[in-house]
Amino acid sequence: MNNEKIALVTGANKGIGLETARQLAQQRITVLLGARDRARGETAARKLSQVGLDVRFLEIDVNDSDSIRKAAAQVERDFGRLDILINNAGVMLHDEDKKIGEQPLEVWRKTFETNFFGLIATTREFLPLIRKSDAGRIVNLSSILGSTSLHATPGSPTYDFKVPAYDVSKAAVNAFTVHLAYELKDTKIKVNSAHPGWVKTEMGGEGAVMEIVDGAKTSVALAMIGEDGPNGAFLHLGEPIPW
Ligand SMILES: NC(=O)c1ccc[n+]([C@@H]2O[C@H](COP(=O)([O-])OP(=O)(O)OC[C@H]3O[C@@H](n4cnc5c(N)ncnc54)[C@H](OP(=O)(O)O)[C@@H]3O)[C@@H](O)[C@H]2O)c1
Repeated sequence: MNNEKIALVTGANKGIGLETARQLAQQRITVLLGARDRARGETAARKLSQVGLDVRFLEIDVNDSDSIRKAAAQVERDFGRLDILINNAGVMLHDEDKKIGEQPLEVWRKTFETNFFGLIATTREFLPLIRKSDAGRIVNLSSILGSTSLHATPGSPTYDFKVPAYDVSKAAVNAFTVHLAYELKDTKIKVNSAHPGWVKTEMGGEGAVMEIVDGAKTSVALAMIGEDGPNGAFLHLGEPIPW
């Protein structure tokens, strides 16, 4: 029997994306495990399919428009639609020896290339397929570090912790979520931003407080919301994060 829903998770060969793929597949969703590196992606997908989950590798480098186009064409050929898009791929780049105003332009550009332009390019390319779903869901991986109001508030958890290019790229992701949600408000598609928590992945580091299994929960919950669920929200485990 075919699974009812098709989901794509970008950057899913490790970390929160891999765990999101696993948890979605456990809900009888066919999951396309997106990865830019074929070997890493196939290895990750095989581990999940070997335990009986319907997880298939899909090559997609969000920095490469040809790669995104090919991935969308393959999904169109194989399934004719996409129900869930989790824009999970991301990077955190920072020059620790330099102050905020001195961060190299290269760091800003590379960060935005993946976290912002890559996310927009992927969403643009897959949107026609998501429009063919009965209940399309788009989840944009943001971060509490993308909350501009918390960064501007002395005493907030992020006031004294700033990773400038990353923070600003996630704020831009949030702004995109709000704009796309506005455009989609009279459709069956919902788009939201997720803060996964501070999670023990390569990016989060060993000092992080959340296990990966819990770090995937916000993305999965937003992928599974019903027709009365939020559109244009910024959430962590069901709780709103200030923009
Ligand atoms: N961990 C945290 O505490 C935390 C907190 C808030 C938000 N987030 C967000 O959650 C998401 C997942 O983070 P994570 O902690 O799981 O990070 P991670 O372990 O570093 O994994 C990042 C994933 O993104 C992929 N990726 C990077 N650039 C890509 C590209 N151009 N095309 C396709 N895939 C690409 C990586 O692939 P490769 O293996 O090929 O590099 C990897 O699979 C990110 O958007 C991150 O900003 C994480």
